[in-house]
Amino acid sequence: MILEKLRLKYFKNYSECSFNFNPKFNFIYGDNGNGKTNIIEAVSFLCYTKSFLQSAESDCVKYGEDRLEVTGEFINPLNLKNKVLFLYDKQASKKTVALNNEPVSRQTSFFGKIPLVVLSPGDIKLTTGSPNERRRSFDILISQISRLYFDDLKSYNRVIRQKNSLLKENFVYKKYTQEKLREMVDMWNDELVQYGVKIVLKRVEIAKEFQKYLERNFRSIVGDAYVPLINYESELLESESDTGTDEKVLKDNFKNILAEKFPLEIKRGMSLAGPQRDNYAFAMRKNGDVFDLKSFASQGEHKTFLVALRLSEYIYLNDKLEGSNTGEPVLMLDDVFSELDKNRIEKISSLLPNFNQVFVTTTDKRYLNTLKKYFSDKDISVFNIVNGSIKANN
Ligand SMILES: Nc1ncnc2c1ncn2[C@@H]1O[C@H](COP(=O)(O)OP(=O)(O)O)[C@@H](O)[C@H]1O
Ligand SMILES: [Mg+2]
Repeated sequence: MILEKLRLKYFKNYSECSFNFNPKFNFIYGDNGNGKTNIIEAVSFLCYTKSFLQSAESDCVKYGEDRLEVTGEFINPLNLKNKVLFLYDKQASKKTVALNNEPVSRQTSFFGKIPLVVLSPGDIKLTTGSPNERRRSFDILISQISRLYFDDLKSYNRVIRQKNSLLKENFVYKKYTQEKLREMVDMWNDELVQYGVKIVLKRVEIAKEFQKYLERNFRSIVGDAYVPLINYESELLESESDTGTDEKVLKDNFKNILAEKFPLEIKRGMSLAGPQRDNYAFAMRKNGDVFDLKSFASQGEHKTFLVALRLSEYIYLNDKLEGSNTGEPVLMLDDVFSELDKNRIEKISSLLPNFNQVFVTTTDKRYLNTLKKYFSDKDISVFNIVNGSIKANN
């Protein structure tokens, strides 16, 4: 898809602002705190129906206003217009999403229709932070290509919430006998096994496939002295051999783990097993040795890894969505060049024309000169963002 037009109304520091974007490359610059990231966040509401930064909708309504409105016009490869509207009413705490004036009632059926890949400074949490961040990032990726996965994930999360509230209720009020409790927990556990195993299998499959994409992209940026690695780690897989993952084996494993943890779950009043605790471990291989990325890489290397990760996501999504009428994803790179040395900036800039529609934000206008080597003038639009509006004559 190509994002042709974007209109923000009462979105964070924007009162009312309309953008006409370039189908190839959009260079968005401005000092800190003027509203560059807010543009990307607004687009994430259109594509994901929620913020990629996990902001609450109510925090996105401009101070002093009671609703926000984001409208985007996307053009698909068949030249058909897709108009997406995102509204949030603070008073009623009601959000509305509409595609071509039809309300979107199920998030899972909408997700992936307008594929989007975002790189943001907060992504440093992917390499340095908890497993939770990496799971969320991969969940967004997988959900854009598999509705089934997204449905299973939603169902799984619902069951976990229900099980947790039962465990917590019992923890506080101790109102169930042991037998009654076991009976109820078993009921939830059966459902967890059904959905959980499907989730783990999909994640393992994707991690394997995606690894190749990451290797290739990493190589195109830094050469092949290092090889990035992704390994999906799950308690459910522990007794698995390398020969593959068998649904039946995983189900048995998960059942056994849940049975084993039952007493501890009761004692602690919370769920203690399942894919909500799994990890995508990131590492680097150098001369045959494997290093944990967290402990080994410099800040610039983390950033390089993250750029390679997001570019790989783009290409992966694009391959998976081939043949659908979503077209290529939109690629938004927030503050992509900070922390990188000149060579890497040059390298990454040279790769950008290979992508569909690209947005780059930066505080430093000088990067435009670098980018102009790779895009012709007509393929670049420049936006200077000052205090929630576009400054003319930049
Ligand atoms: N609900 C809101 N109402 C008004 N301004 C907001 C709101 N939320 C955030 N802001 C403002 O948005 C600005 C941050 O914009 P951002 O897009 O992150 O800047 P940058 O250009 O550095 O990426 C800050 O000045 C912040 O005060
Ligand atoms: Mg920013």
